[in-house]
Amino acid sequence: MLVSAKDMLVKAKEGHYAVGQFNINNLEWTKSILLTAEELKSPVILGVSEGAGKYMTGFGTVAAMVKAMDESLGITVPVALHLDHGTYDGCYKCIKAGFTSIMFDGSHYDIDENVAKTSELVNVSHQLGISIEAEVGSIGGEEDGVIGMGECADPDECKRIADLGVDMLAAGIGNIHGKYPEGWPGLRFDVLDAIQQKTGVMPLVLHGGTGIPADMIKKAITLGVSKINVNTECQLSFADATRKYIEAGKDLEGKGFDPRKLLAPGAEAIKATVKEKMELFGSVGKA
Ligand code: 13P
Repeated sequence: MLVSAKDMLVKAKEGHYAVGQFNINNLEWTKSILLTAEELKSPVILGVSEGAGKYMTGFGTVAAMVKAMDESLGITVPVALHLDHGTYDGCYKCIKAGFTSIMFDGSHYDIDENVAKTSELVNVSHQLGISIEAEVGSIGGEEDGVIGMGECADPDECKRIADLGVDMLAAGIGNIHGKYPEGWPGLRFDVLDAIQQKTGVMPLVLHGGTGIPADMIKKAITLGVSKINVNTECQLSFADATRKYIEAGKDLEGKGFDPRKLLAPGAEAIKATVKEKMELFGSVGKA
């Protein structure tokens, strides 16, 4: 069932758990994530970066595929199709394409411009029943060409953006896209705490979910994080399983080169990663 992310995140915040956003890259990714969410009776958010959207030949293709797959697999759990780190133009493209949720990442603008653009997009998306995420402070590292310096968010700026009526707020708290470097000092819980105190019931979003230790994830949830984004970890699991299959020479046995066989171990590995995360985030059985 394709829905906006609003209700699932309000419920998650009230219930002290988080809904996972898992980024998709192609049909295998989408199918593995949807089947796992259904099996575990968990709500789920499918994240699409602008780069992944382009790779899949456009947001229209993505929306059509996800909608059709959701129906043909008979998925009953709530699924949001969400633009990840969207530009201003990208947000409008996804709204037109039929996404049920968008993220406008205005974190690289000064706060007044971020507020102005976010405010406009809040009005447009809410008129159409689409949920919207905004960002303050930046997520460190690089994801699909979006590069952030990892500045921690200013809690007062977070309040300004939250007051616009966004449905979820991503705030930089020392989190980084991709693998965490050796010696990473960890999440800034003092900053997260200050943000939650200013933004109250607003569901907060933790980007860079790959590689954050379980105890930090749990603590972040107690401080108001209700959505956690995971991208790199599924890519690593997929690559690892695919490498093992090829290194074992399985593609050379019989028809092991058939893409449905060649990609199967990777697809199963994505399922296992998504399951592990949903269990850690506490969203199992919450659909
Ligand atoms: P990771 O790739 O570090 O899991 O981050 C995902 C993310 O935050 C998507 O926006």
